[in-house]
Amino acid sequence: MKVQRQLPRWKSIKPLLGWSLPKFFSGDKALARCITIDDLRKLSMKRVPKAVYDYVDGGANEEISLTRSREAFSRIEFRPRVLRNVKEVDLGRTILGKRVDLPIIFAPTGYTRMMHYTGEPAVASVAAAHNMIYSLSTMGTTSADELAAAVPEVRRWFQLYIWRDHEQSKIFIEKAKDAGFEALILTVDTPVAGQRNRDIRNGLTVPPKITTKTFFNMATKVRWWFNILTTPPLEFATFRNFNRPLSEIAATVFDPGVTIDDVIWLKSIWGGPIIIKGIQSVEDAKALAKIGVDAIVLSNHGGRQLDCGVVPLEILPEVVAAVGKKMEVYIDGGIMSGKDVLAALGLGAKAVLVGRAYLYGAMAAGSAGVEKMISILSQEMKTTMQLTGVTSIDAFTSEYVRLRDH
Ligand code: GLV
Repeated sequence: MKVQRQLPRWKSIKPLLGWSLPKFFSGDKALARCITIDDLRKLSMKRVPKAVYDYVDGGANEEISLTRSREAFSRIEFRPRVLRNVKEVDLGRTILGKRVDLPIIFAPTGYTRMMHYTGEPAVASVAAAHNMIYSLSTMGTTSADELAAAVPEVRRWFQLYIWRDHEQSKIFIEKAKDAGFEALILTVDTPVAGQRNRDIRNGLTVPPKITTKTFFNMATKVRWWFNILTTPPLEFATFRNFNRPLSEIAATVFDPGVTIDDVIWLKSIWGGPIIIKGIQSVEDAKALAKIGVDAIVLSNHGGRQLDCGVVPLEILPEVVAAVGKKMEVYIDGGIMSGKDVLAALGLGAKAVLVGRAYLYGAMAAGSAGVEKMISILSQEMKTTMQLTGVTSIDAFTSEYVRLRDH
């Protein structure tokens, strides 16, 4: 049979091409190529000094807590339903009485300006643009009032540690209140600092000391180095007027004498919502429910404190069954995809906190990288929900997800 031939025409070829013509000067191409949080992580590794990357990426001791948290997410099994109308998907939810567009909370992370010179305000403004909650760390490089002035519209929580000197704690709490912070997150898994072997080997300590080795490694990342040198010095902004040596600050922050009585005291003076972060047992969750805290974060501090501790995701259903009606239960540690977020929500968490995921974005490309992290996670969540046959977060229950034994 004779086939009629014709000359190729641009109009019919163009739609078949899987690539577009190269665009010059069109922004950050490496960032545009990132399609997973792990891609952001790899890009960040190229863009910041090893000591900085390791501070974010690493955990305590042999990093077994960290590895196990990730491993637990590889055992997620979704139980999809089909033939449902999944055209519209709502990723929003109410957290502590107010609606957020995504139940992903920016975890408090220390020293953010070390990851990217634009620091906490850049991250918080991305959170604000997406109607998400931003937590500022006591060990941040921006103070509570500076953050509030820079991003007044962001819904913000202040993370703190309490110590037995209640008068000193009070000063920070008052400052957070004056700066419009809506809730306090009290971190309780730090009676002492975890042993972070990567930081020790890299010569990076908190407070940081820059050794010759660290310095030379830093100097290989010219852009990062230039930004650090041309912006105000890194400092723990909360302690700016503290007038005590840094070593004393560290000893104050990690106070092995704190007990539940201090939490009761904190509740009595704060008068707003309190979230306790670093819970790793059903018993502690119950004790905190009893004294009436508003929420807990099941967390092993991203594997940065106790190594070989429990995996938060594995105890989540039991904790939610015990206290979920009395308070909100959040979870963090090892969340690297929209699937991970959904699995945690399906197993009973009201919200998740992410630290590393957004810091990889920030280290890779500042606020554009944080934006990218949100678009990756939300797109993955949306697709997973549609493929599971669920259209709202509140409807995504344990009917749709479980953890396999292996
Ligand atoms: C601070 O809390 C850290 O984990 O580095």
